Amino acid sequence: MSDRYLITAALLYANGAVHFGHLAGAYLPADAYTRYRKLRGDDAVYICGSDEYGVAITLSAELASNTPKEHVDFYHKLNMELFKKLNINFDHYSRTTHKEHDIPVQEFFLELVENGYIEEKVTEQLYSEQDNKFLADRYVIGTCPKCKAENARGDECPSCAASYEATDLIDPRSKMTNSPLVLKPTKNWFMRFDLFKDKLLTWLSDKKWKPNVLNFVEEYVKDLRPRAITRDSTWGVKIPLPDTEGKVLYVWFDAPIGYISATKEWAKLTKNEDAWKDYWLDPSTKLIHFIGKDNIPFHAIFFPAMCMGQNKPYKLVDEIPANEFLNLEGKQFSKSAGWYIDLEKFLDEFSADQVRYTLAANAPESSDSEFTFADFQMRCNTELVGKFGNLVNRTLVFAKKQTDLKVPVVENLEEIDEKFLKDIEKLTQDASAAYESFSLRKATHVIMELAALGNVYFDAKKPWVDAKQDETRHRMQNTIALCLVCLKQLALISAPIVPEASKELFELLGVEQGLSWDKVVSYTFKSGDHLKTPKILFAKIEDEVIEKHLEKLHSLAKA
Ligand code: 2FM
Ligand code: ZN
Repeated sequence: MSDRYLITAALLYANGAVHFGHLAGAYLPADAYTRYRKLRGDDAVYICGSDEYGVAITLSAELASNTPKEHVDFYHKLNMELFKKLNINFDHYSRTTHKEHDIPVQEFFLELVENGYIEEKVTEQLYSEQDNKFLADRYVIGTCPKCKAENARGDECPSCAASYEATDLIDPRSKMTNSPLVLKPTKNWFMRFDLFKDKLLTWLSDKKWKPNVLNFVEEYVKDLRPRAITRDSTWGVKIPLPDTEGKVLYVWFDAPIGYISATKEWAKLTKNEDAWKDYWLDPSTKLIHFIGKDNIPFHAIFFPAMCMGQNKPYKLVDEIPANEFLNLEGKQFSKSAGWYIDLEKFLDEFSADQVRYTLAANAPESSDSEFTFADFQMRCNTELVGKFGNLVNRTLVFAKKQTDLKVPVVENLEEIDEKFLKDIEKLTQDASAAYESFSLRKATHVIMELAALGNVYFDAKKPWVDAKQDETRHRMQNTIALCLVCLKQLALISAPIVPEASKELFELLGVEQGLSWDKVVSYTFKSGDHLKTPKILFAKIEDEVIEKHLEKLHSLAKA
């Protein structure tokens, strides 16, 4: 029976181009998982979109002399294109400036008010009299209250690393205009997360999440406090109450509800207005949030609490396969420091499968990991070309020569053949277990084990020797036939990670596209079926190409 899965990846800030770190942490694992679930015949929907509100956006837009809307339009489009090039197949990619996003966000807010989970509070915040507005932390600079360094940031001092409230700064000034700031009282709305502590603890008690997620969450829940869920700004979802001009809902309040509004939008576009309810209001649906570790509290505590405070029985997240961070050649990715890879250009030169495979093999699942050019070259040349591509090529080249690309008859299998078939079956199950447990690293490992198994079998059987004499030709034919079985399983288990190569391989083998996992497993080749002339599935990367990229990276890096 097919199960229903709602799969989300963290809404991406429309504030810059998506990079390898984001991809390895959330978008690729979610994509591979959704592909796997669909292959298993499940009803799986992959929802994502652009996160378009908040101070990070208004600040970068201002720095680039654009309006926030121009800014998010640009990055929303750019990121959609990059995701497409990488074959990240969202069922729907929405955006939080979409007009219908406001509806569930405001509903959430009003129900929380009605149910007594929101309170108003007046606090003193930094205000620019010159600009007539309150300034968020990121817009503020001043003198560090601890070490007295000048030009300290609004939340943290770069000289002594102290962290503090912007209101603690000495001589606070606007980062944009340098004008002095004053403290002024302002009203904001706070959500009483503290009231959800017991409910959250009970709900969390049977979760079998990764230790990195659970440990963090258990500590965090102990000290839940009310948190402001509104901001003095004009860029965000409006507060649905009178006299709230100049204030909006906080971006971390509206963004996770974006998963719901995007599902609604998808349902309307592809099914019907009510179809979203099957995903959000049916307890049997499995809700899975793919995120980076910095997003854990929002997905494991704040958003679940927001859902618990609603009258509708919203689904609470079932799984949070949060990943650590991926670095680049030993340092954090940083556009501003010039330590990054231009993905658009990179994808003009390398294939989506090459990138996806390398990121999957290095997915930061239990600790931070790294993308290096040397590793990229090794993954592409030694693994994809040397093992996967080699097995495809040698099997089909040999079949072309010996059987005119027709599937041969299988007869009188020997022990080595039976063992090969058993090992293929076992590795197929291992791949399935790897996907089920959200481990792309393990999945890539199993893919290569299967390719290596096929190559070792081919070498051990020496079909080129058997081909020479009539009495041993049937052995050679068995070898080809069984290598075809291995290739079919290879196309299957690699489909979530290298979908293009998998599709081409099925095509070469004459296996129809779109079969479910079980159908591929039970598919039997018929003798006489046509195979296709092999073609290159993966390109080799030359040393000079890697050197050129490394040089470029280092030359762009600012000292
Ligand atoms: O950290 C981030 O990139 C956020 N834009 C993630 C938002 S996830 C969700 F809540 F929408
Ligand atoms: Zn300091």
